[in-house]
Amino acid sequence: MPSSSGQTFENRNPANTDDLIGVFQQSAAADVDAAIAAAAAAYEEWRLVPAPIRAEMLFRAAQIFAARKEEFARDMTREMGKVLSETRGDVQEAIDMTFYMAGEGRRMFGQTVPSELRNKFAMSVRQPLGVCAIITPWNFPMAIPSWKIVPALVCGNTVVFKPSSNTPLSAVNFVKVLIEAGIPRGVVNMVTGDADVGTAMTTDPRVDVVSFTGSTAVGRIVNQAAAPTFKKVHLEMGGKNVVMIMDDADLELAVDGCLWGGFGTTGQRCTAASRVVVHEKVYRTFVDAFVARAKALVVGDGLDPAVEMGPSISETQLQTVMRYVTIGEAEGARLVTGGRRLTDGGCARGFFHQPTIFADVDRRMRIAREEIFGPVVSILPCRSLEDAIAIGNGVDYGLSASIYTQDINRAFRAMRDLYTGIFYVNAPTIGAEVHLPFGGTKHTGNGHREAGVAALDVFSEWKSIYIDFSGRLQRAQIDVEQL
Ligand code: UN1
Repeated sequence: MPSSSGQTFENRNPANTDDLIGVFQQSAAADVDAAIAAAAAAYEEWRLVPAPIRAEMLFRAAQIFAARKEEFARDMTREMGKVLSETRGDVQEAIDMTFYMAGEGRRMFGQTVPSELRNKFAMSVRQPLGVCAIITPWNFPMAIPSWKIVPALVCGNTVVFKPSSNTPLSAVNFVKVLIEAGIPRGVVNMVTGDADVGTAMTTDPRVDVVSFTGSTAVGRIVNQAAAPTFKKVHLEMGGKNVVMIMDDADLELAVDGCLWGGFGTTGQRCTAASRVVVHEKVYRTFVDAFVARAKALVVGDGLDPAVEMGPSISETQLQTVMRYVTIGEAEGARLVTGGRRLTDGGCARGFFHQPTIFADVDRRMRIAREEIFGPVVSILPCRSLEDAIAIGNGVDYGLSASIYTQDINRAFRAMRDLYTGIFYVNAPTIGAEVHLPFGGTKHTGNGHREAGVAALDVFSEWKSIYIDFSGRLQRAQIDVEQL
């Protein structure tokens, strides 16, 4: 549907800016208002549709996602650049989440507990909240919307969805599937736009929940905007995730993991392994092997099956990467590979950058503390497990961490002592599955989790219900029988 202002924006391929993917409507304030009004009106009926019936529609949606997986993956690679195997994984994550949450339609367990009084029944049920404002990033253009929209729907809420302006096609693909699966009119509404549209969503009194994934800086703004109207706010923000490699680690496995964790999605994951802490006894061996493998990575258009790493999402993001390379050099870190924009051949019309590694990084450097969101990995030496844990915890973020070791005692100590929301043993910092909670501590989040049953806690709230069938007044805490 065109926007009320008639304004539009272009969506171009970050691997080749000559490739125009489409022209999309740009929502204005009146469109946001209409979307929220539609969601608020649809809520009154949708909340009463039995959860197993809502779930039936979601099962159907999951089947449609599965049938169109390849087409959606290709659209996604074209619009945001990550390689085809990864965009297939992104669509798969949406399929998994939709099946999983549809299953919740027949569970959504509450509690029944004995009452302290005779002839009285006590239970708790989950109830929906109302209209959910869903604001999502471009790095997982279908997976992340599914993490939010699908649990919101199964719980009985309605949705106003604003995807990143970098990935409107995947968002349209996503919403069309929901509509085709039978989700009624007004239950899911999509708007596009930037900060002004986001502000309209996060301040509107008709909105009850805000779920946001993006940068910590924007998350802070979202939280403040939503505070005066006491919305329930779920924030999923930055990361500075660490892989710790001990002297007994399987180094080949660790190199594979760091390559995938550091350069997968061109480093543009909140779970990216942007810090690698290596025991001094294996430091040189690891750095040499890791650098050799990073140098050999094939960078280019993600639609080409030979390509292993795609472009940054935009010129602005690429400039951020380049700025951090300059910062790292100025801070005295040792640039061991990469560090340059790629402009030759197939890279001439896109936002490409070499896989970049800094060694001998000090924990106080900005490249060791700030989220870069690009193909830049910092390697820091450590003397012991305790030292690695201190470095690992020494940042403002707490999303994901991992350890490579053959020693179960070290693995369990690290598992206990890393203050993060996700932890891996002998695997990199990426690779979360949909049926466990996803989210982080400290400046990564605000205490909520998405995915798994935890997502239901964001999109529903508890109602405790007491049914007195004694036919007389029974006063809790007072008319309790004495032993
Ligand atoms: C993100 O980085 O924004 O665990 C999401 C992973 C993916 C999801 C990442 N399943 O890396």
